[in-house]
Amino acid sequence: MTDAFTQWQADFRPLFDTKARQALDPLLAEAPARLAEAIHYGVGNGGKRLRPMLVALSYALSQDQPLPAPDSAFFAPIWPAAIALELIHSYSLIHDDLPSMDNDDLRRGKPTLHRAFDEATAILTGDALQTLSIELLARCDAHEPVRLDWIRDLAQGANRMVFGQHIDLNANRFDSLEHLRALHRLKTGALLETAVRLGARAAGNARLDELLAFIAPLGLAFQIQDDILDATGTADRLGKTPGKDAAADKCSYVTLLGLTRAEAERDDCLTAATAALDALGAAADPLRALAAFVAHRTH
Ligand code: IPE
Ligand code: IPE
Ligand code: MG
Ligand code: MG
Ligand code: MG
Repeated sequence: MTDAFTQWQADFRPLFDTKARQALDPLLAEAPARLAEAIHYGVGNGGKRLRPMLVALSYALSQDQPLPAPDSAFFAPIWPAAIALELIHSYSLIHDDLPSMDNDDLRRGKPTLHRAFDEATAILTGDALQTLSIELLARCDAHEPVRLDWIRDLAQGANRMVFGQHIDLNANRFDSLEHLRALHRLKTGALLETAVRLGARAAGNARLDELLAFIAPLGLAFQIQDDILDATGTADRLGKTPGKDAAADKCSYVTLLGLTRAEAERDDCLTAATAALDALGAAADPLRALAAFVAHRTH
């Protein structure tokens, strides 16, 4: 499965970029050219597209289908949700990098948006991406009540991410592990949870309980690995600046537990995530492969 899934991911990413541009262009018809350019820059190439892939795989699981190709008609209904969620995620990164937040220079292998453009444009790009995501869902042709459920799920996930980001502002290396877990559940876990909710809703919520039990520990594994990569990765490989957490005296799994225990905690979370899929047989193989990728990714 892993090789087939590696190919599926490789096919998904460029397709996502094309679909996202097609979805955004009509909504940006009246936007100033420079702002439209910044929006495309912020959403554009370089992201792993984990959240859109999770939307698609959650949808596919709920349907009990073998994994169709990313460009198949099977996935046509979920593209608006997959794109809307990635717009929210991209906005969260643009604002996370701002001088008043993490003050980062590098993102997705390119200068951060406020460096490539300017700070005010970065703020406005994030503003626009939030409402563009809602406009995209509000205008899409998904049936009721799915469309309304999507909008509510997306808004709730985006709010919870912001709550986590605000807690993160004041987190420091003297915080407890419980505090850190709660912070990560919001800051990173919320949008990953939103991904499975969006995918499952489009398929009548058939596997929602299993997906929620899967994504909660996987979200933690994802952020633990992000913390590990911050401590061990290189700028070339990560496409973002390493060493930021320790330099800013941040509360992270590595600053709190040290590298070895952080790795053990990550692996425990991965085990818990895949255990939640045990009853689902081969239909869950793509999610198992995605989970292994998320926990052991190198960027
Ligand atoms: C990075 O997310 C920010 C966190 C939530 C830790 P990703 O690692 O998914 O970033 P991209 O989208 O691939 O750039
Ligand atoms: C940010 O977490 C998560 C978001 C909600 C954007 P980090 O600050 O650790 O993300 P990176 O390491 O800059 O991608
Ligand atoms: Mg941050
Ligand atoms: Mg950051
Ligand atoms: Mg980080």
